[in-house]
Amino acid sequence: MSIELDAQRHALTLHTVRTSYQMDLDTYGRIRHLYYGRRTGGHMAQLYPMMDHGFSPDYYAGRKSRGLSPDTSLAEYTGANTGDFRVGCLRCTNADGISGADFVYTGHEILSGAYDVPGMPCAHDQDGDCQTSIVRLKDAATGLELHLIYGVYERDDIITRSAKFVNAGSADITLTRALSVCLDIPFGDWELLHFHGRHEMERNAERMPLMHGIHTISSNRGASSHHHNPFVVLCDRSATEDQGECYGAMLVYSGSHRTDIERDFLGQTRVVMGIGDEMFSWQLSPGESFDTPQVILAYTHEGIGALSRRYHSFLRKNIMRSKFAFAPRPVLINNWEATYFNFDADKIVSIARQAAPLGIDMLVLDDGWFGLRNDDDHALGDWFVNTDKLPGGLDKLIARVHDMGMKFGIWVEPEMVSEDSDLCRAHPDWAIRVPGRDPAMGRNQLVLDFSRPEVVSHIADCLTRLLSENEIDYVKWDMNRNISDVFSHALPPERQGEVLHRYMLGVYDLLERVTSAFPDVLFEGCAGGGGRFDAGMLAYFPQIWCSDDTDAVERLSIQLGTSVGYPVSAMGSHVSACPNHQTGRTVPFGTRGVVAMCGAFGYELDPAKLTDGEKDEIRGQVARYKRWQSLIHDGLFYRLRMPENSDYAAWMSVREDRSEALVSVVQPHVHGNTPPIFLKLAGLDPDALYRVESFDVFGCTRTAPFDRSGVPVGSAYAGSQLMYAGIAMQRLFGDCPSIQMHLVRI
Ligand code: DGJ
Repeated sequence: MSIELDAQRHALTLHTVRTSYQMDLDTYGRIRHLYYGRRTGGHMAQLYPMMDHGFSPDYYAGRKSRGLSPDTSLAEYTGANTGDFRVGCLRCTNADGISGADFVYTGHEILSGAYDVPGMPCAHDQDGDCQTSIVRLKDAATGLELHLIYGVYERDDIITRSAKFVNAGSADITLTRALSVCLDIPFGDWELLHFHGRHEMERNAERMPLMHGIHTISSNRGASSHHHNPFVVLCDRSATEDQGECYGAMLVYSGSHRTDIERDFLGQTRVVMGIGDEMFSWQLSPGESFDTPQVILAYTHEGIGALSRRYHSFLRKNIMRSKFAFAPRPVLINNWEATYFNFDADKIVSIARQAAPLGIDMLVLDDGWFGLRNDDDHALGDWFVNTDKLPGGLDKLIARVHDMGMKFGIWVEPEMVSEDSDLCRAHPDWAIRVPGRDPAMGRNQLVLDFSRPEVVSHIADCLTRLLSENEIDYVKWDMNRNISDVFSHALPPERQGEVLHRYMLGVYDLLERVTSAFPDVLFEGCAGGGGRFDAGMLAYFPQIWCSDDTDAVERLSIQLGTSVGYPVSAMGSHVSACPNHQTGRTVPFGTRGVVAMCGAFGYELDPAKLTDGEKDEIRGQVARYKRWQSLIHDGLFYRLRMPENSDYAAWMSVREDRSEALVSVVQPHVHGNTPPIFLKLAGLDPDALYRVESFDVFGCTRTAPFDRSGVPVGSAYAGSQLMYAGIAMQRLFGDCPSIQMHLVRI
């Protein structure tokens, strides 16, 4: 059993194959966190001798014996206003003016299977691996109940957590902060690895020592955001990709979020994570409950790479629900960077006609096909086809594309409305804005008030009509602004703090309805690129457009940073035209292919503007991608070199049974008279022999007269040699050359 109850010591231990997580009931009836780390047995209470610390108050019952303080004890979840002065999970007040809560244990349950988080995406139990434990607590003064819920995925080495509040008192309670978890780590010197960014440069990995004080990673944008991803890693100062202790905490939520990491006066580290509390409040009348989003926790002593692979497999298996999660994805061509708004049916058909013989499987019609949508300023919300651009309607266009043997995909932005749209004219109060104030505009559009069920239902009807009346194989679901001027016409003044979370519940409701009604449609998420790349969205979208920056050099940081938490199969990644539209940089066509293949692959360009040579390159890229797609998507992913720390980046995918591997190297900055690129590979079978099946160099303009490649095709090396001694690639010349090497076990 993965959940072990020690009734004598009042201890509950959650075991996975490689980790243990333990809590117990302290002398005064509070639930105390004891341990999360490498698998072990025993009761860990001896780690915490009774100690009195000045200005750390005692529980009332221990006021004479002292030595156990709410301010220093490790918590599974914090109360508030109870003498724990560290950063907390909760802020609340009841109608009598009582602030905070002091939670005392009342009972627990152990159940088989996974738990649901009502209204929100959460992990399911894909292969009968999960047990659930619910620990119940209550605050005597207000009657507020807290249920701490744990999902233990034994073989996956994952623990999920969520909290539920129930008002079992007689007065209303207002929550103004209700986070999902507290994780207290008593010992160690930790560094914080987090993922910051901006539009067109998302999820840059940044690692920093944790000093005393509080560090916050958050978004108050109503979206998980391009700026701070709701995923953090605490790693031991000496941890690398291959070794060292790391803890991961990933929020399954796509709206505003908050993670505080505090290093306290004893050197203990506390992580609290959950819904962002700026502009958040929630009214709980007697009998009502509130659920917090789930957090996926992982621990490993085997380095950041091992932590990543744990998340990759868990997200694909237990979070993603789409039947495409493990299926081969179509290679698509999207018309956005090819035409922007300037297209008609013939132009779209001509893109498809030129793409089909190159092996491309699907044409995606991006923004601009509906209403009077000829630029950013109009028509969001008017989800009917523009027959001036597409005479005969979508039907006819889709038939022409299908006739070429290609699939057809379409872009939508369901959560938005343009001021200049029929929808906004008919329902001006459906847009989120403060009455009497000019709203801040993002891309000259407003956000629909999805906290209102009738708005969600209207958009659900539009999408249902679109998808049932047309043979659509794929949907790109975009979202192109953050939420400001938060106000809903449908909620009373005291509930306005609920708008942002109710908005997210509305989005999830819509996603649930539409994706479950059309299970054969492949849905790709998008939010101005990767502005909502999070575990909540992955529940509905097996792939998400990773960034609006399609420059292959920029994509190295974006994709490798993203890969720390999220699987490469989830990263929409396309070859686009050069000079690149976001940076003006020109990268060799072959290198663009190598980078885009580290994801869900496609193209974003006008084939009419390509040379015959480039078209041949596409044929080759598509063929290679199709040959290796399952190795790339289903294999284990290893980051060999991050671009930030080097003048090249390298990564590899290894089949789970270690029978083959694909190594990719990109060198954005070539230098004169340098040593060759030297790499230690990873994940191979040390005792097996691997043959170099193919070794392709792209964008290398010449070879130095006396240079010879160190790894000729057909040569064979022991896995141990490739991993422990390493391998020297050839010296590269040119602007951003790259290498792709395929190894097969013999
Ligand atoms: C933002 C997306 O990230 C782009 O790929 C494109 O779909 C545009 N929106 C269209 O408006």
